[in-house]
Amino acid sequence: MTTILGIETTCDETGIAIVRDGHTILSNQVASQASVHEAFGGVFPEVASRLHVEALPRMLQAALTEAALELKDVDAIAVAYGPGLMGALLTGLQFAKGLAIGLHKPLVAVNHVEAHLFAAAMNKEPLFPALGVVVSGGHTALLQIDQIGSYKLLGQTIDDAIGESFDKVAIMLGLPYPGGAPLEKLALLGKPDAFPFRAGRVQGKPLDFSFSGLKTAVLQTIAKNPRKEDVAASFQEAAFQDLLSKARLAHKQIGARSLLLGGGVANNQRLRELLLTLEIPLFAPPPALTLDNAAMIAGLGYFNLQTTGPASLLLDASPRIAFDRK
Ligand code: KG4
Ligand code: ZN
Repeated sequence: MTTILGIETTCDETGIAIVRDGHTILSNQVASQASVHEAFGGVFPEVASRLHVEALPRMLQAALTEAALELKDVDAIAVAYGPGLMGALLTGLQFAKGLAIGLHKPLVAVNHVEAHLFAAAMNKEPLFPALGVVVSGGHTALLQIDQIGSYKLLGQTIDDAIGESFDKVAIMLGLPYPGGAPLEKLALLGKPDAFPFRAGRVQGKPLDFSFSGLKTAVLQTIAKNPRKEDVAASFQEAAFQDLLSKARLAHKQIGARSLLLGGGVANNQRLRELLLTLEIPLFAPPPALTLDNAAMIAGLGYFNLQTTGPASLLLDASPRIAFDRK
């Protein structure tokens, strides 16, 4: 039995969780800073770092209390070392190193994007090769997953992440930040074919994404004072049809036997409905594991500890981590 403490501070959620053997969640504490960043219309990096420093000790206590464990019961400390905001990453990394040194327990490095995909497979073994679809506030990527820990990048966004484009369009529509969930709600009341929006294509890279032109088209349409419900529905449909067509292409290319969906936009019901049309088993995380959380970090940390082993205490934060492109 291996009990792993996970730490997540890549963006604006401070998460500490305790997970046993990679799948049994004993606690999953998340403190969101979203209400603070709302005033800025997005994440203010320096503020995020300061709030992580404040929240980490209290979240650790909360996670131990929820799991009814003491620090001495923890076998290893897993930390998200990237990708994410440099300052925010450093707060979690230093906290993790302090715990690892103080407790004489191994430190384990976890890639946050991989963890989003792992969240979908935490309680059920997926069929490999799987198509990984990462849709978060910071990332949009298609990956070939041969097994947990073995990934190849097939395509990614060249500008905005899909969640980021939802957040930006939501602001244009006067919705609160982060805007993905409120935008989905508004879209339910609108016509998805009211406006002929389209997401971008990237020349020579059919599996790459571009959402910045779509965002500009929405802005120009909003200037004409249309029904906001119709704008929300048409934007959402355009973004997801683009994602679906590229996911279909990637599925064919790699002969995927299942699809692993990860990241905050995985909460969206219309997206799940569309991905089901690919007719391969869809593995999506439960609601508590879609947004940034440390349970997915501790869960993947268990696998990493067994495969790649402990990380050096010199482990550095990596704001950008590249996957190998196929
Ligand atoms: O995975 P996550 O916490 O962020 C990163 O790691 O970057 O995802 C947050 C993103 C935000 O952009 C948020 O607007 C979006 O997920 N989101 C949604 C929904 N719920 C959250 N987007 C569309 N529909 C939703 N229901
Ligand atoms: Zn994330």
